[in-house]
Parts: sequence; C-alpha cells; structure tokens
Amino acid sequence: MKIIAGNWKMNGTPSANVTLLEAIKDTVTVGEDKVIVFPPFLSIADAQRILKGTGIAWGAQNVHPAESGAYTGEVSVSMLKETGAEYCLVGHSERRQYFGESGQFLGDKVKALMAAGLIPVFCIGESLAQREQGIVGSVLKEQIASSLVPLADTLTNENFILAYEPVWAIGTGKTATPEDANNTMAEIRGILTELGLPRDLYILYGGSAKPENAKALLSKEHIDGLLIGGASLKADSFGAMVNWKER
Ligand code: 13P
Repeated sequence: MKIIAGNWKMNGTPSANVTLLEAIKDTVTVGEDKVIVFPPFLSIADAQRILKGTGIAWGAQNVHPAESGAYTGEVSVSMLKETGAEYCLVGHSERRQYFGESGQFLGDKVKALMAAGLIPVFCIGESLAQREQGIVGSVLKEQIASSLVPLADTLTNENFILAYEPVWAIGTGKTATPEDANNTMAEIRGILTELGLPRDLYILYGGSAKPENAKALLSKEHIDGLLIGGASLKADSFGAMVNWKER
C-alpha cells in the first residue's frame, strides 16, 4: 500500500474548498492505496460531510498539544477528533521556519495525537544551504531525534507516518530525482535504526510531486507515498496521482 496525501496549505475559501472537495469526491477512485486530504481547519467539517463513506480520509495541517485552555487561536486534538480527522501534519518545514516550532514542541504534538488515536504525519527535510554544506544526514537525524526519541517505544508503522520534504523542492518546481529521494529515504531508515526507532515506518516524499513524476517516485523501494502541495489543489491532478499506476 502507498499513501497519497494532499496538503492544501493556506489555500481556498470555505466555499471554494467545498467545490474542490466535491470535485475530489467525483473524480478520485480509491483503490488499494490510502488517500488523505489536509484542508485548512475551516474546511475540515466540510471534508467530513462530503468525504464520509468515500474511502478518502481527511486530516489537519496542525494541532496544539494541550487538551484545552488559554491558547488563543489554537485547535486541540479533541476538536479534530470530533470532525473525524484521522491524521495530522506535524513539523512541516513552513511551520518550523515561519512559526519557530521546536523539536520538543513537535514531539508534544505527536504524543498528544497518538494518545487520542490520530496518526501524525511528521515532516522532516533539509534546506538548500544545508544540502550544499553536505550535512543532510545530520540535519535529518537532529529533527528526528529531538522530537521522536522520547516516543521510541510507542511508534509503529500503523500509528505514525514520516514525510521527507527537502525544503528546496517545496513549491519550487525542483523535484528531487527519484534516485536522490530514494537514497535519502534509505539514509533515513538507517537513522531510524541508529536512534532505536522502527525502520519500517511509512515514509512519504514531498516537494514538487506532480502527475508527471508520481510513478517514477512511487516505484522506488523506499518511497511509500507522496505528500503533495500545489498539485493536490486540482481534483484532476490529484486524481491522476492517486491513479499513478495507470500512468
Ligand atoms: P509542493 O508539492 O507544492 O512542492 O509542496 C510540497 C509540500 O510542502 C507538501 O507538504
């Protein structure tokens, strides 16, 4: 099974996203792969209403680890759970970069989600500067270690997903080559083993994935799925990626 996930980021108004959800419901046929959409918070209840019973799952792009209380502007795990969300992104590079989320804080989010039975999709990835300095392995290791080592005993390939998104490939049109992405994912499996985490976790690739490169990426041994930004905002291209085998 592969996992095909669409991260809508901060796109679409609630009414435009109803149109997109309906188009996805009409266009996307779920086969043996898992299909997930991550709309903005304001569209999650619509995702529940429109996608329920289609086999397409939905999730949130962020969460706060506290149960409830004085955290103005935040959304809790129990709020998500009541909307039928099964998944939640954690530590997307845009959140690390623009909102300064620390490894420990991200680990708290993972823990809170897992305690409620939601599946975290935990994102890691190096910047272009880090890549040029040749420190990809140590950057990824630090991102994994600082959030996940305290949770090592609880993570399995059924309750947790990892996403490798090289920052230089996000929204730039520059995709990592399938070979390059596969090699880095193999390196990530080595890091997981070194840190005492399960090496068979699902690892998604993200960064300018599109219908034209989906099959080449998904055919690689270590690439268990795709986390798609821009190309998930149109039902046709998202649907084409869900049907990657037929391309
Ligand atoms: P793009 O597919 O637009 O490059 O975005 C990838 C991403 O950040 C998904 O989380």
